[in-house]
Amino acid sequence: MEDNSLKSDEKEIVQEISLRPLELTDVDDLMVWATDDKVTRFCTWDSYTSKEDAINYIKNIVVPHPWLRAICLDNRPIGSISVSANSGSTRCRGELGYVVASKYWGKGIATRAVKIVAATIFGEWPHLERLEALVDVENVGSQRVLEKAGFLREGVLRKYMIVKERSRDLVMFSLLSTDPQALE
Ligand SMILES: CC(C)(COP(=O)(O)OP(=O)(O)OC[C@H]1O[C@@H](n2cnc3c(N)ncnc32)[C@H](O)[C@@H]1OP(=O)(O)O)[C@@H](O)C(=O)NCCC(=O)NCCS
Repeated sequence: MEDNSLKSDEKEIVQEISLRPLELTDVDDLMVWATDDKVTRFCTWDSYTSKEDAINYIKNIVVPHPWLRAICLDNRPIGSISVSANSGSTRCRGELGYVVASKYWGKGIATRAVKIVAATIFGEWPHLERLEALVDVENVGSQRVLEKAGFLREGVLRKYMIVKERSRDLVMFSLLSTDPQALE
């Protein structure tokens, strides 16, 4: 569905967004956002301080990850988006996570990436019934992304997790495989 809230140059950039696997050859592009404190502020991990950190991340986390994609502009990574898989009694749900390099914020890129994932992941993983995302109450931009992508704001989980030495209140968002936004 067309997003009429975007300005025309933003519409262009959003149309060029694609998702693909993140590879070892992408390490320099990954360094751009992984070393940026603005990007990592709400993340569980600290900004990388060396290229070795990024190489180890790709080798140890990205390669074995069940579903992690680079968010690309002209095939160059400017961020990433992932769905973590569960097993056993929680296999019906997966958790969404995403980051975009700060230079590209506010252009609708994360929203577009989340919409692409929402439209494809339930087909790729037929056992998945619920895609959820947990967002710091102070991370207003990320909450807006999920609202624009049609996720339901379910409520606030108080003091739910410690991130950067401080317990955080997190907002729980979800999208079900049967929600209209997942079927678009
Ligand atoms: C959150 C993040 C992914 C958003 O990426 P993005 O490409 O800028 O997102 P979009 O442009 O699609 O949408 C952002 C929306 O939030 C709004 N927004 C951003 N910061 C805001 C703020 N401080 N207050 C209010 N609205 C804000 C933007 O205006 C936009 O909404 P609009 O289209 O209605 O104007 C990006 O900021 C990021 O990578 N942050 C660091 C990592 C992170 O927090 N990841 C999510 C963890 S849950």
